[in-house]
Amino acid sequence: MDLIQASAVSKRFGGIAALSRAEFHAAAGEVHALIGENGAGKSTFIQILAGALRPDEGRILLRGEPFVAANPSSAQRAGVSAVFQELSLVPDLTVEQNIWFRREPLNVFGTVRPRKLRADTLALFERYRIPVTRPDIEVRRLTLAERQVVEIAKALARDPAVLILDEATSSLAPRETEWLLDLARSLADSGMLVIYISHRLGEVRHLARRITVFRNGMTVAAHDMAAVSDDEIIAEMLGRRLDRLYPERKPTATDRVALKIRDLTVGHRLQGVDLDIMEGEVVGVGGLQGHGQREMFQALFGVGRSRGSIELWGRPLHARSPRQALADGIALVPEDRRAQGLLLAKPVRENLTLSVIPRFSRAGFLDSRREKALVAEMIAFLRIKAKTPDQLAGTLSGGNQQKVIFGKMLLTEAKVLLLFDPTRGVDVGTKGEIFQLMRDLAAKGYAILFYSSDLPELVHVADRVAVLRNGRIAAVLEDGAISEANILKAAMVEGGVH
Ligand SMILES: Nc1ncnc2c1ncn2[C@@H]1O[C@H](COP(=O)(O)OP(=O)(O)OP(=O)(O)O)[C@@H](O)[C@H]1O
Ligand SMILES: [Mg+2]
Repeated sequence: MDLIQASAVSKRFGGIAALSRAEFHAAAGEVHALIGENGAGKSTFIQILAGALRPDEGRILLRGEPFVAANPSSAQRAGVSAVFQELSLVPDLTVEQNIWFRREPLNVFGTVRPRKLRADTLALFERYRIPVTRPDIEVRRLTLAERQVVEIAKALARDPAVLILDEATSSLAPRETEWLLDLARSLADSGMLVIYISHRLGEVRHLARRITVFRNGMTVAAHDMAAVSDDEIIAEMLGRRLDRLYPERKPTATDRVALKIRDLTVGHRLQGVDLDIMEGEVVGVGGLQGHGQREMFQALFGVGRSRGSIELWGRPLHARSPRQALADGIALVPEDRRAQGLLLAKPVRENLTLSVIPRFSRAGFLDSRREKALVAEMIAFLRIKAKTPDQLAGTLSGGNQQKVIFGKMLLTEAKVLLLFDPTRGVDVGTKGEIFQLMRDLAAKGYAILFYSSDLPELVHVADRVAVLRNGRIAAVLEDGAISEANILKAAMVEGGVH
């Protein structure tokens, strides 16, 4: 008997049907992948399973018994634990306080037993080989990837029978991703049901025994993974065939330097970086996570303190703030969209035009007709799944939020674009569109600096790849030398490739 049997599950948000009679069946001891386009209803469905949302209709059985979780803690008590797509840790608490939040070991006076808390945490880390070493550090000091690992640890601390991972690898570096994939497999081998949501088909294929495909809130297929090809899965997801994911790489670089970086230094995390990005060029930034990529992008966007010189088309840039960087013609798609990219409580429309208001105003008055037209155009162009431009950004699916950030950047007049993992959480169809868009922009004379946590993206989309190691450029790969193997080699080996 399947551990989870869900049938005819529906959920509406106002006028939006997020789920329409969705079906989902999964057994103990398997990794079961749930896939579908951005906005297909995956997160809505697992939020229902995990007690964060109530379905409008439908029937869910857990171990053959009717199951309705009123809230996440009651789902957890029934054995269902989820790591949601958007992280939920309390930044000012430590790692261990977050993991055992409201479940801390207490003494008879009701106060927390710190030594027991520490011991439980270390035992948990050891048992699952959790790649975080400091239980006592405050979460706000961790990187996005480390926070993601802590979320996973927190879900595991509940000893679930069903573990749900929603896009859990999208903010992890390759090493942590490997850890999670191994862990998911061994948890399933020991009898757990792991429900795995990811836009990375490679991972899904590698990991899952069965797969359920959602489209527009409905279940369109469920298969044994071994019985279907990637192309078939993609066609089921999108409702059409995808000809190619990566665009043709026609070099469009001119001999004009758009962004000239000299001796860029951020503390000891980024040291003396020299790099020229030509007009019409896409330059990838590679390297193991934490080797200065983040600092490089932030420094170029005027965030934090840095030294060195930056020129835009021969003009020195002295951006001391993102606002100034934007005004000077440089824009960023940031890593953490919830914290840096979006105003969740504001409409999509306002998010899109946030950085460009001056363009729409005449003598201080907003030209709302022009604003409306441009917003509508951008929503159509990026195929942002919003019911109306007034839908609040926080209620879009994860991938659609990412599209809004992209659109916001495109509506600025900046022609130097810093893209930090721009396809994180984006479905394959849209990924292909974003890559094509990057090449089209380059052909129009934009200069693009592009970091990706997904190596194949760098290999297929960038004209050159600068590999960072210990805050320095270890190699700049060109043409035929751009390969996953060479990027990794340069990232790890002293001396790199020549
Ligand atoms: N609170 C809400 N209010 C209005 N609409 C919502 C709300 N939550 C979700 N939706 C809508 O429901 C639909 C399904 O969203 P969901 O987050 O489940 O998609 P998803 O498959 O997880 O997509 P992604 O791959 O982008 O994460 C989307 O159209 C989304 O905008
Ligand atoms: Mg989602």
